[in-house]
Amino acid sequence: MKDLLSIEKSLTEDVELALNKQIAMEAGASASYLAMASWCMANGFDLAYEYFIKQSDEEREHMKKLFRYVNNMGGLAHSPQVGKVREDFDSLREVYEYMLSQEIAVTQAINNLVDFCMKHKDYSTVEYLNWFVKEQREEVFISRRALKLFDLMGQDGLGLYEIEKAVTQLKFKE
Ligand code: FEO
Repeated sequence: MKDLLSIEKSLTEDVELALNKQIAMEAGASASYLAMASWCMANGFDLAYEYFIKQSDEEREHMKKLFRYVNNMGGLAHSPQVGKVREDFDSLREVYEYMLSQEIAVTQAINNLVDFCMKHKDYSTVEYLNWFVKEQREEVFISRRALKLFDLMGQDGLGLYEIEKAVTQLKFKE
């Protein structure tokens, strides 16, 4: 069944497959943030621990949002398998560097997905994905600002504590 808006569903098989890949990527991001949270706790960064637990929850919400969309459109969302995630870091700064690289990778994947849906004339999914485009704009911004704090505040004990605190207050303003 290749036609868009067929009797059974509003997604082509190609778009359904692409959305399922994104579901898996969001699940991977959620798992990755949990591993980052654990590293933070093990190394004494309690505020960063809570921050990354929250980030993990947000990624899971992203995953569920796409999951619901696929099923609502008559497709079949697959419960994703998550592969191994990175657990070792040399410093708190490296954790935030990894956060930024992860958010950039997700942004590129979302952009590619939008592009793919445009080519398939699936404008409904494009419209739905706009929420993710905006979300990624915010997440990349915050990840960049978080890294900047390391340059501004230094990386001794007090500096790191202040960074942990400041990161939790970063906001994206339009
Ligand atoms: Fe849902 Fe930040 O990727």
